[in-house]
Amino acid sequence: MNLKDKVILITGAGSGLGKALAIAAGQAGAKVICAARRKERIQQTAEEVTKAGGVGTAVEMDVTDGKSVEKAVTQAEKEVGSIQILINNAGIITGMKAVQDLPVEEWDRIMATNVRGPYLLIRAILPGMIQRGFGRIVNISAPIKHLPKASAYCASKCALDSLTKAVSYELKGVDVLINAVEPPFLDTEMHKGGKKPEEVVAQILELAIAEAGAPGGRVVKIAQ
Ligand SMILES: NC(=O)c1ccc[n+]([C@@H]2O[C@H](COP(=O)([O-])OP(=O)(O)OC[C@H]3O[C@@H](n4cnc5c(N)ncnc54)[C@H](OP(=O)(O)O)[C@@H]3O)[C@@H](O)[C@H]2O)c1
Repeated sequence: MNLKDKVILITGAGSGLGKALAIAAGQAGAKVICAARRKERIQQTAEEVTKAGGVGTAVEMDVTDGKSVEKAVTQAEKEVGSIQILINNAGIITGMKAVQDLPVEEWDRIMATNVRGPYLLIRAILPGMIQRGFGRIVNISAPIKHLPKASAYCASKCALDSLTKAVSYELKGVDVLINAVEPPFLDTEMHKGGKKPEEVVAQILELAIAEAGAPGGRVVKIAQ
């Protein structure tokens, strides 16, 4: 299986890893729906996807907001076609604080982006995948699971891993696979230093085109 003409939605595609994934998918000939809040950023990525040989489309989406997700998915599927691959990449980490110093609103924002977001996207897109008998979902987790002063981020990524495994058990007997990936530290807006996102995209996209019968529910680590 390859990405040629596949319809793939990537959240957080305006920067960092999401942008690199979108362009790499474009180079492989995919139809890439680039979703995030900052319009200019996703438009820029969509243009680069098209220049790279794919078809790029930008849709504004706030992954924390159910109505925004539903609206963007409906619009994208109307314009581009049924979504076959979903990469839940959008994520945030905010200031390093001990748990008692972390404002409740900050906890909520991190959990809403990193866990509620992927859940809302899966909820919006999975029924179509099941109905059509094909789908691939890749959730971008993180190697950080127990870091002091990053409790909300760590809890959110552990929750994302659990969501991945639990949903995979619901998908027995249908060619829809859901897996998670732990990329290494990456040099992006979120984190300074580490690998370039372009260095890890091939391994992530491999899961997005995994053949029927490949395992689901995995949390795949990419070496630093
Ligand atoms: N950088 C690392 O070292 C590292 C390591 C392991 C895993 N990761 C994971 O990799 C993923 C990508 O991170 P990155 O390093 O590429 O960081 P990044 O450049 O900051 O990208 C994060 C993207 O998420 C989008 N986003 C944030 N909140 C959103 C919302 N409410 N709705 C829609 N989109 C939203 C942002 O776009 P808008 O602001 O335009 O919405 C942004 O483009 C994250 O899940 C992160 O946890 C990163």
